[in-house]
Amino acid sequence: MSKIALISGVTGQDGSYLAELLLEKGYIVHGILRRSSSFNTGRIDHIYLNNNEYRDKRMFLHYGDLTDSSNLNRLVEKIHPDEIYNLGAQSHVQVSFEVPEYTAEVDAIGTLRFLDAIRETGVKTKFYQASTSELYGNVLTGMQDARSKMQDDQDPEFRILHRRAASILHPASLSETSPFRPTSPYAVAKLYAYWITVNYREAYNLFACNGILFNHESPRRGETFVTRKITLGVSRIMAGKQDMLHLGNIYAARDWGYTPEYAEGMWKMLQADRPDDYVLATGETHTVKEFIEEAFAYYGETLNWEGEGVNETATLSASNKKVIAMDPKYYRPTDVEFLRGDPSKALRDLGWAPKVRFKDLVKIMMDHDSESGIR
Ligand code: NAP
Ligand code: GDD
Repeated sequence: MSKIALISGVTGQDGSYLAELLLEKGYIVHGILRRSSSFNTGRIDHIYLNNNEYRDKRMFLHYGDLTDSSNLNRLVEKIHPDEIYNLGAQSHVQVSFEVPEYTAEVDAIGTLRFLDAIRETGVKTKFYQASTSELYGNVLTGMQDARSKMQDDQDPEFRILHRRAASILHPASLSETSPFRPTSPYAVAKLYAYWITVNYREAYNLFACNGILFNHESPRRGETFVTRKITLGVSRIMAGKQDMLHLGNIYAARDWGYTPEYAEGMWKMLQADRPDDYVLATGETHTVKEFIEEAFAYYGETLNWEGEGVNETATLSASNKKVIAMDPKYYRPTDVEFLRGDPSKALRDLGWAPKVRFKDLVKIMMDHDSESGIR
């Protein structure tokens, strides 16, 4: 008998890789599709629309939304999934400052709606919650106080010094036992989702797990997230199709991994003997600035950086062409400055270990975008 999975967010970056993985493992996959005025299945067309083996045989799409409890109840009751992966979310941190209430509706209360649909229907299923390294905020660098001071005095020199300090300090890594201190409406909503998942596990004995995933990227990453914005932008600049790339806080540092490996980790959490929460991360951290340099290095180019803060720019060393500038609109009211995860628990309990490192990841994305990005 094939196992049955239900995925919210199946049209997103993670959902598309997870659906692919589960189909390869012989699952029947049901996905929740949001109604949209234009096509939003681009990431899964190859496994659904254009695949006679899977379409309506082993893969099914259902209209639905995390803001609609009756829809979630109906789907859980009708599909009777063995495993539910709750990946649907308003997932953009900067956008969450613009739509905080909607972000809470979908990311926080949407998770409660799903868990309650399981409880109400009594369907025996496992539940994966897409938790995030954004939960930690700036606990590693101790920047929280500095951040409020920055808000007070707005001194650009002070801000720059602190950003630099955060990326140079190389503090310890974040694990399942590190404290949370969210710094955006997105992260606060995800904090609720994290704890309601733990609570339903304890209160109702649900097999419910939080995957605390650090940033993971791929050629399917949304184009407004910084890695993809860079790999597409650099490809277009080098092809003469774009003049410059405008960015925000390039001193922010992230622990970037490769999404297909993280989809495998999500699945492993639901195959464990007992439900628990796990960090998935590489343990390696780089700044946005380093990502930009690595993307230009793909073409053998190096950069000359000049100026400070919003006036910082970069030119190609060979031609002196200006290619990078800052734009204040990409700075967030509060930002997470430095993330590095410790995935030892996932290694020990699940046998999960990422192989793709930072340079491999940039190459995978550049290989893709230097072809498709210049069309
Ligand atoms: P993504 O590409 O932005 O995909 C988000 C998915 O959620 C899309 O399928 C989207 O549908 C769907 N969605 C949005 N609002 C919804 C709603 N109201 N009801 C139902 N579905 C809705 O995000 P991702 O990178 O794949 O991330 C997947 C999950 O992991 C998210 O919960 C994210 O917060 C979390 N996460 C991501 C990372 C990362 O680095 N990628 C790290 C930690 C946690 P449309 O396609 O119609 O927009
Ligand atoms: N998006 C974006 N665009 N970010 C920029 C830019 C820009 O032009 N310039 C600098 N940045 C900085 C942001 O300020 C942030 O510090 C960092 O680059 C990464 O931004 P994103 O790629 O948007 O990702 P994120 O870390 O905020 O959030 C992603 O990872 C989380 C896991 O830690 C999302 O996938 C979240 O859904 C996920 O939870």
